[in-house]
Amino acid sequence: MSSISPARPAPAAAPSPASGAGSPPAYVYDLAELDAHVRAVRAALGDVELYYAVKANPDPELLRTLLPYVDGFEVASGGELAHVREHFPQVPVALGGPGKTDAELLSDVTRLHVESPGELRRLLASGRPADVLLRVNLDISIEGAALAMGGGATPFGMDPAGVDECVALLRSQEAVRLRGVHAHLASGLDAPRMLELAAVILDYARTLGVTEINLGGGMAVSYTDPSLRFDWQAYGRGLAALRRPGETLRIEPGRSLTVYCGRYVTHVIDVKRVHGELFAIVAGGTHHLRTPATKGHDQPVLVPRTGEPITIVGQLCTPKDVLARRVPIALKAGDRVEFTMAGAYAWNISHHDFLMHPRPTFHYLHRPEPS
Ligand SMILES: Cc1ncc(COP(=O)(O)O)c(C=O)c1O
Repeated sequence: MSSISPARPAPAAAPSPASGAGSPPAYVYDLAELDAHVRAVRAALGDVELYYAVKANPDPELLRTLLPYVDGFEVASGGELAHVREHFPQVPVALGGPGKTDAELLSDVTRLHVESPGELRRLLASGRPADVLLRVNLDISIEGAALAMGGGATPFGMDPAGVDECVALLRSQEAVRLRGVHAHLASGLDAPRMLELAAVILDYARTLGVTEINLGGGMAVSYTDPSLRFDWQAYGRGLAALRRPGETLRIEPGRSLTVYCGRYVTHVIDVKRVHGELFAIVAGGTHHLRTPATKGHDQPVLVPRTGEPITIVGQLCTPKDVLARRVPIALKAGDRVEFTMAGAYAWNISHHDFLMHPRPTFHYLHRPEPS
C-alpha cells in the first residue's frame, strides 16, 4: 500500500487533499510506480547511458525519484538548467535546443548540443572551453512518428553539410572539443523503428570518427491503449548488438519515463444534454492538462461505471477545452473523475493563467517506509 502526502501545493493554490466537490483539481504523482518503472528501464538498458529530458516534467519530486537511475538530465533552456542546478547541483547535464542565447551557449554544462554552424561560431568566438555534440538531422524517411524533428527541412539540428562545416570550424583549436553526435529525429516510435533509426545514426557517426552518440528520446507511448508499452528489453538488446567496442551510446527520453506515474483528479460540476449529446463539465480543464488538446487525443480516464457516452470538458469558454470525447461512463454532478497518463507534457505545458481559475494542488504517493 502507498501513502499519500500533499508535498507541494502549486503556487497560488490553496492546499487541498484531493479533488472533491468544491475543491480544486489535483495532480497525483505515484513516485513508487515511477521508481519501479525507471528501475526496469535502467536494467534493460545495460551500458547505455540514460539522461532524462526534463522538459517532459521538471517536478523536483519526480527528478529526485529518477536520480538513482539516470546518468544525467537533458535540459533545453537556461531556465531548465537553473532549475536542475538548484535542486541537483552535482548531476551531469546536457544542454540542447535551437535558439540558444549567449548566456545559454556559454553556460557550464557536461555536454552542449550544437544546433548550427552559427551557434558554434559564437561559442568559438567566446574562447570558452566546451564539450560538444553536433546535432544532426539526417535526410531519411521517418514513418509512423507522432512528431518528426528530423528527416527533412526542420529547424532542429543540422544537415550533414552543416555538420561538415562545424567539423571544419573545430579543426586547429582546442578549447571546444568534439565529443560526438546527437540526433533526436522523431517521437512516438516503437522499439523496432527506434533501432532502425539508431543503426542509421550510428553509421553516420562512424563516418565522422566520433564515439559518443546520443540517440535522443521519443520512445512511443499509447494514449489509446495505455497497456501498450515501449519494449525496453528489446531496445536494450538491440542497442547492445549495434554498439561497437569503445562507443558510448546515450538516450534522453522524457514522456516514456514519467507519463504513467501522473493522474489528474477532478470532479463533475454539471452534466447536461445539448442537441442530444451528453456533456460533463469538470473543474479545471485543458489549462491544467493541455495534453489532449495539443496531441488531439482523448485523455485516458478511469471508468468506475459504464454508461451512455459522455464528452468530458473543462471550465474554459472555448470548444477546444475537451479532455475526452464520448467516453462510455455514467457521471453525475459531484462525481470524481481521474485522468491517467498525466505525468508528462501535462501541467508544465498548460496555459495556466487563461481565465484565472484556481490552480491544482500536487500530491505524491510514496513507497511506504520499511518498518
Ligand atoms: C532534443 C530532445 N530530446 C529529447 C526529447 C524528449 O522526447 P520524448 O519526451 O518524446 O522522449 C525531446 C522532446 O521534444 C527533444 O526535443
